[in-house]
Amino acid sequence: MASQPIVCDVQATMKYVVRGEKATFHPGAREKSYWPVDEHQVTIRDVRPIAGQLAFDRNGFVLVDEPTDVTDFTDSGELARYCHETETLVRRLTGADKVVSFGPMIRTNAGGAHGHNLPAHGAHVDYGARTVADFTRDLLPPDEAERRLQRRHMLINVWRPIVRVESAPLAVCDASTVKREDLFDSEVVGGLGDFNRRSLWGFNLAHHAGHRWYWVPHMQPWEALAFKLFDSDAGAVQFTAHSAFEDPNTPPDAAPRQSIEVRTIAYLS
Ligand code: OGA
Ligand code: FE
Repeated sequence: MASQPIVCDVQATMKYVVRGEKATFHPGAREKSYWPVDEHQVTIRDVRPIAGQLAFDRNGFVLVDEPTDVTDFTDSGELARYCHETETLVRRLTGADKVVSFGPMIRTNAGGAHGHNLPAHGAHVDYGARTVADFTRDLLPPDEAERRLQRRHMLINVWRPIVRVESAPLAVCDASTVKREDLFDSEVVGGLGDFNRRSLWGFNLAHHAGHRWYWVPHMQPWEALAFKLFDSDAGAVQFTAHSAFEDPNTPPDAAPRQSIEVRTIAYLS
């Protein structure tokens, strides 16, 4: 007889933003930030039983088995190769004509980690139209950038464990349950590991009882979560909010989280 998979739903605290508040976050100097938090207990469901049915157009995110042979993400050549692999993955998942990537971030909660590289506790959507257009103009020749911005494009993050996740896992909120009126502006000053970077504009999420949160218990390095944050098609499901959270069942000696995320913009033809 086939064994039943163990379904692992958890109750945890989610850090929402206070409804109506604009937040300013300084990842490199967190004490300067203004991010008024509104904590709520939420159910975070094990996504594995429904992983096969997920779609960007329905849920805003997908979970894929996508092994990589890159292991040293701190090596710049290996990191560039990984970013390229991630672009190829997003092209396959979306059917996009062209995909660019930016802002890879390695995060850990191991002792000694700096502000930029800590897990991000707080329900947010990075980024919106303005920052997507800024990166498009940074990364593409001027004519191509303007042409691509006229057509459908999407911002998609790809998040992967570097070692199996045993603490501070990532939760994602089914984007079909996130309404535009629950999102409030967020300005990230000096983000993505660069203190001098121009502000990055996105959103923080305010609480609504209808949100459906998911996580991937014991997520493995050969698995990747791809989640859509912005879609130039305003009618499409977008705004996949996400946050690190503390799983109350985490043993005190659990291994630290180590993850990498790469941001991509997928341009459809
Ligand atoms: C992201 C993100 C938070 C984390 O990938 O965009 O916000 O804790 N990650 O990994
Ligand atoms: Fe994020």
